[in-house]
Amino acid sequence: LSETYFAPRVTLDDFEAAALTALPKSAFEYLAGGSGYDVTLRRNRSAFDNVEILPRILTDVSSLTTKVFFFGREHRFPVLMAPTAFHRLFHLNGEAETIRGVNQTGTTLVASSFSTTSFEDMQAASTRPLWFQVYVHPDRGFTRELVERVVAAGAEAICVTVDLPTNAARDREARAGFEVPPGMSRVNLERLSANAAHALHSSENGLYNSVRAANVTWSDIEKLRSYLRIPLLLKGVLRAQDAITAQKVGCEGVIVSNHGGRALDGVPATFRVLPEIADHVGDTLVVMCDGGIRRGTDVLKALASGAQAVFIGRPYLYGLAVDGASGVTRVIEILYAEFAMAMGLSGCASIAEINATLLLKRY
Ligand SMILES: Cc1cc2nc3c(=O)[nH]c(=O)nc-3n(C[C@H](O)[C@H](O)[C@H](O)COP(=O)(O)O)c2cc1C
Repeated sequence: LSETYFAPRVTLDDFEAAALTALPKSAFEYLAGGSGYDVTLRRNRSAFDNVEILPRILTDVSSLTTKVFFFGREHRFPVLMAPTAFHRLFHLNGEAETIRGVNQTGTTLVASSFSTTSFEDMQAASTRPLWFQVYVHPDRGFTRELVERVVAAGAEAICVTVDLPTNAARDREARAGFEVPPGMSRVNLERLSANAAHALHSSENGLYNSVRAANVTWSDIEKLRSYLRIPLLLKGVLRAQDAITAQKVGCEGVIVSNHGGRALDGVPATFRVLPEIADHVGDTLVVMCDGGIRRGTDVLKALASGAQAVFIGRPYLYGLAVDGASGVTRVIEILYAEFAMAMGLSGCASIAEINATLLLKRY
């Protein structure tokens, strides 16, 4: 381990630097990388830096609260943990370790359908109801079975990810020779039909992925909506028109996301398209956003641009890789403290006071 590993970790970026030395190269590249030239990955971050905050002065922030309420539950602050696959790549105990860390923070984790621990075991270990992320699988009957299974186990919302109908050019992980190690599998999908089963244990490089369907359309979303009794969020929305259609087919929320720059390279930063989407559907849908959130000020800017909450993906995995559950906790607590400071320093005592007038100009 290099000096970086032992240096004090003050920001989320410090955890990324430490993860680089703590993880094997192939696992780090899988985690940190985007797709193509990483243009979208970089833009997700720089978009936040391009927008300035105009603080309100003399507003009395002595009893500041970061609490928010959506989907029938109070959240300590408007940050959730995005669904991410294969936590056992980053820690021997995998998702169980992540959940121990998240439990300390009072935040909500979205379990990935590609987790290395079953949803039932994850929910049993979690002190809060989890959300679940699903892809539409080639076998629609299996998709329904899976979703009904996680709802029975206590899932409180479903995020259906729609931005990866085919595989993406994950050049960095390919160059590093990344493969899912033998013995590590997507246990939630084990009952998937036999012709897809071989794919559970290997990474794939072609155009199609035998686990995720390529022929997913709006009628699949309508179908999901028709049998689900809990909120459904569409994850991977970048166009206002698609958010409007999501609303028409009955979704309760949209997640403005480009898969953390891991799907199509060259698409805009999520922060850049967020305002227009929020303008169109923000009154009727819960609008959320992820991609490149690394600072409390990023959370503030996203909320000022119309998001009700945001997600972080890579940062809590860096925490997991570097220091297990306590690393996960620390990453979330740093972001919490930074966000509270950003609110206070910009003159906001409550989430309701965060609005577009807080930004010099919207993106
Ligand atoms: C290692 C890794 C695995 C991911 N796995 C999934 C997944 O299984 N399902 C999904 O919908 N998104 C997945 N994502 C995307 C995240 O949910 C999220 O959109 C993205 O990480 C947010 O950007 P950020 O990492 O810059 O915070 C993954 C991202 C990473 C980094």
